[in-house]
Amino acid sequence: MSPLLQTELTRRLGCQYPIIQTAMGWVSDANLVIATTKGGGFGFLAGATIEASRLEGEIQKVIDATGGSNFGLNFHMFQENAMQCVELAIKYRLKAVSYGRGPDKKTIARLKAAGVLCIPTVGAVKHAIKAVELGADMITIQGSEGGGHTGGVPTTILLPQVLDAVDVPVIAAGGYSTGRGLASALAAGAAGIAMGTRFMMTSDSPTPQLTLERYLAVQDPQKIRVTLAVDGMRHRMVENAFIHKLEGASPLRKLWIALSSARQWKRETGMTFGHMVSTFFKAVKEDPAQMSQVVMSANQPVLLQRSMVQGFPDEGILPSGQVAAAINELISAPELIASIAGDAETCLEALCARANGQALEEAS
Ligand SMILES: Cc1cc2nc3c(=O)[nH]c(=O)nc-3n(C[C@H](O)[C@H](O)[C@H](O)COP(=O)(O)O)c2cc1C
Repeated sequence: MSPLLQTELTRRLGCQYPIIQTAMGWVSDANLVIATTKGGGFGFLAGATIEASRLEGEIQKVIDATGGSNFGLNFHMFQENAMQCVELAIKYRLKAVSYGRGPDKKTIARLKAAGVLCIPTVGAVKHAIKAVELGADMITIQGSEGGGHTGGVPTTILLPQVLDAVDVPVIAAGGYSTGRGLASALAAGAAGIAMGTRFMMTSDSPTPQLTLERYLAVQDPQKIRVTLAVDGMRHRMVENAFIHKLEGASPLRKLWIALSSARQWKRETGMTFGHMVSTFFKAVKEDPAQMSQVVMSANQPVLLQRSMVQGFPDEGILPSGQVAAAINELISAPELIASIAGDAETCLEALCARANGQALEEAS
């Protein structure tokens, strides 16, 4: 194994390559994490969308298949079962947890004391500094080109800023899919890369075929853009009929779309038609703009499931990094990791050879 790819990330996380598969709602399940682990990368389970009753089973599934707990769990403190995630990470001595809205200092200290590394994802320098103050062991930066909820600063600007600002290893995310990308991140000083979209677009991803075909069909990175229409936050996704409908709708119409999608797609939430209509009229009296946002945000999981689980890409949302426009094939996660590692090694060897050649020239 090339020493060029051995970093603080591989050392601390105990994986072969400095390549992380991030947590993606309804995508990063046990099977994807198993494939990533077997391929020599480090995978995170999407603890925010795995049902609380199934979470421990998913963790055990990865442990059974990989023979250890060299993987991570992602969660956010706003989810109902956040503390269950913390307890399970400690119980199974998982190698790491990742989070956006993270736990308090005391909980972070508990995780660390149990040997669980805390690796938050941030989109701004000030959040990186704050996360380190709270105890983060490493930081993942996500540049604005990244998929799902994302900040406004591109990876090429954010990575060097955060590398300068903190003294823990920094992992680069947002826009990566190639060995050249990994080589550039390592050359800049990152400990490795983390990828969401690229792992979602593998044959180990549980994403339905029709939805994956929609991702593969996108050729123009401008068509993978940020919208505020779903929950009022910056959310990068592939433009589709649903997003057009949402963005073009008046606040009232938006509210109606949100409520009817909740009724149509999530009968199990128990929302009856009567309740939907009464909520609608109540909101009309108050502030429809605010209300539609609240309902839409609560509805987000439903909108995601329609496309990402049930396979109707035009009836839900398609979170994606801009890098999807540069991806044309689905290969397995181990094949992906091997090819990225091999190409990165070639790039870095060429860089070293160039530096050595210049040194020799100068010496002669
Ligand atoms: C389909 C999809 C779903 C995602 N879901 C989550 C999530 O549930 N929690 C989270 O912290 N990040 C989520 N993300 C963000 C990724 O974990 C990761 O930070 C991002 O994809 C990195 O940028 P990239 O897509 O350019 O690789 C999601 C991203 C995608 C593409």
